[in-house]
Amino acid sequence: MKIVIDNLKFSYGGKRVLDNINLTIKSGETVGIVGVSGGGKSTLLKLISGLYEVQNGSIDIGGSQSSAGRRRNVAMVMQNAMLFPASIRDNISCGHAMEDAVLYHACELAQLSGWISGLPDGLDTSVGERGSQVSGGQAQRIAIARAIAKNAPVVLLDEPTSALDGGTGTAVMNALTGLTKGRTVLHVSHQMERLSGCSRILRLEGGHLHVV
Ligand SMILES: Nc1ncnc2c1ncn2[C@@H]1O[C@H](COP(=O)(O)OP(=O)(O)O)[C@@H](O)[C@H]1O
Ligand SMILES: [Mg+2]
Repeated sequence: MKIVIDNLKFSYGGKRVLDNINLTIKSGETVGIVGVSGGGKSTLLKLISGLYEVQNGSIDIGGSQSSAGRRRNVAMVMQNAMLFPASIRDNISCGHAMEDAVLYHACELAQLSGWISGLPDGLDTSVGERGSQVSGGQAQRIAIARAIAKNAPVVLLDEPTSALDGGTGTAVMNALTGLTKGRTVLHVSHQMERLSGCSRILRLEGGHLHVV
């Protein structure tokens, strides 16, 4: 699904964070955005995902400019997984009716199957308060499984491995490959080396996108 962002501006109160963003991402393309912390990367992804309403300019995804359409068509993985105090199953399905086959497939791609099959309660194991019963890498892979199960055509990645150590990062990287395959992807990071899989990389600086 194609994304067209045109003359997008965004301010918090009087503070302009994004100032005339123009970006077209072809269907199936993987684009990276690099930029310093505080530069507006997360704000841009929250706008694209429909979490924030557009103030100025437009975001078109698959021919629609509605924020409800964006929330439906976009799955996002953030730096720290937001888990509910519920089972792994509910954290992946987000309460939507989902067949076990869909859940198991998402777990397989998210590299969770081995771990879950060793749990006495399997998918019905609780993740605890704010994910206290699972490791950081497992929590992030549950968030990735949630994005896979949503089966949205557009995937946004907001520094998904930056809070994890090296070994855990690799498992999460493999899970991300399972998520991004065949989808339109926008991956943001403050570290250029995290964006090596992207077909092109842009820099967000001063509220504008620059060709790297
Ligand atoms: N909810 C908010 N209210 C006010 N200012 C915010 C809010 N979220 C982010 N900001 C500010 O907007 C700027 C961009 O933040 P952010 O999009 O999180 O950047 P990045 O993801 O590149 O680190 C920063 O100066 C940040 O302090
Ligand atoms: Mg950020």
